[in-house]
Amino acid sequence: MLKETISNEKEKILFVDDEKNILEIASEYFQHKGYYVATAKNGLEAVKILEKEKIDCCFTDINMPGMDGLELAEHIRKTDNTIPVIIMTGYPSLDNTIRTLKNGVVDFLIKPVNLNQMEVCLKRVLRERQLFVENIILKKDVEGKKQLERLNRELLYKVEELNILNKIMSDFTITSSSSDVFKRLVDTTIKIMHADEARFYVINEAVKRPFEVTAAISIPNKAKSSAGTDNAVGKLIMETVSDEMPLLISENKGARGLPEDVLSFMIVPLAIREKVFGVLTASIKTTGIRFTEKDLYYLSFMTNKAAYAIENLALYENIYENLFSTLYAFVKAIEARDPYTQQHSNRVTKIAIAIGKEMGCTSEELDILNFAGHLHDIGKIGIRDAILLKPSTYTEEEFKIIKEHSLIGASIIGQLGLLESEKQIIKHHHERFDGTGYPDGLKEKEIPLLARILSVADVYDALSSDRSYRKKMEKNETIKIIKEGRGAQFDPDVVDAFFKLYYAGVIEKII
Ligand SMILES: [Fe+2]
Repeated sequence: MLKETISNEKEKILFVDDEKNILEIASEYFQHKGYYVATAKNGLEAVKILEKEKIDCCFTDINMPGMDGLELAEHIRKTDNTIPVIIMTGYPSLDNTIRTLKNGVVDFLIKPVNLNQMEVCLKRVLRERQLFVENIILKKDVEGKKQLERLNRELLYKVEELNILNKIMSDFTITSSSSDVFKRLVDTTIKIMHADEARFYVINEAVKRPFEVTAAISIPNKAKSSAGTDNAVGKLIMETVSDEMPLLISENKGARGLPEDVLSFMIVPLAIREKVFGVLTASIKTTGIRFTEKDLYYLSFMTNKAAYAIENLALYENIYENLFSTLYAFVKAIEARDPYTQQHSNRVTKIAIAIGKEMGCTSEELDILNFAGHLHDIGKIGIRDAILLKPSTYTEEEFKIIKEHSLIGASIIGQLGLLESEKQIIKHHHERFDGTGYPDGLKEKEIPLLARILSVADVYDALSSDRSYRKKMEKNETIKIIKEGRGAQFDPDVVDAFFKLYYAGVIEKII
């Protein structure tokens, strides 16, 4: 016989007994007391009810056909351990008692059972169940919160990692020279890894020694001189080079011979085409943080990106070299046409570079000057020999054609799209400081500095050498023209630098 009442509000009790009388009495009594009641005459019937109904408490006999009370209790414990099970039996044995307790039975009533006793027991187990369920919910809640916090932390970590990797990627995407790459390596190490010192060393093949190329130090007062790499550091670097593996000393305990003031240390090799080219080192000397495996990973990622950047630059520098030799061959061909101008570009370049150095130009600017100096008259390739090699002075018309060479030169260089600075120098090497030059009549600082430098070098060499239409000038005369041109044809600062070199005998040596 199966009786059930469905409700979500009142507590529902399941009575399981093969004695019909007991089920009827209990059912009537507890319904009267305001409970919903379900009954089953054996364990199997009870299981079916439990599958369909939400039961709050179960009273069961032990000895029943099919599935007995202890098996039912075990089933309930496995499927929903929040349902309290109370065993009712006429023959309690020690063995049964132990089994029932093992199966999660919460109470034990001896038949014949007093209804009042059952009610007291029910109220108690329901109260305990309430606490038990609340406890589980609370525990789940706490676990949920913990899990959420962990996920949040992981997410933040991932975002941070992506930010760092992204930063590294963008740092090494645009680089103009190898030395720029090395500088970025050490600067990024300080910024991202919170290192106090970062140094980049190139490994010299022949002497098997690291040479420091650049360093970044966030604690200048504590910085050691870059000269003479510490012996222990040098040894660790060479070990890293030979096994090609990055090294992490998270906590310096003196075992590897590192200086005491280094608290945490990393070395990462930078390999180009599978050969170690240099190493990056990072040290912590003051702060509480220590390097971790993660930092080593970031640093390795960074040196990989830097290696690619260097490879690309080498490729570019190679293209640059090839291009230069091709174009310079044209210049030499032009100079060969005119025996008077042979070696002119070469001398102009040397003088211009000497002035550039005197004026504090960067090595990048000197490179540009070298390129533009050699090629400044490349546009003459487009000018007919009849004009170019004319033994007398030019007519106005011829001079107009000659003047085109700076624009032709700029357009030859400009077609490559790579050499914007070089193009500008070639285009403007005949501008005058007072604005009366060509092709654009630019004046003073409107003219690129390197073009102003090239202009002095060009005129000086042109005047000091033979031309098809005139003999070379006397030194005094040449010097007079340059001096008179100070502030008119030429930038006064460039003229001053030129004369400093001239009187020191430097120009004489070049010519
Ligand atoms: Fe020229």
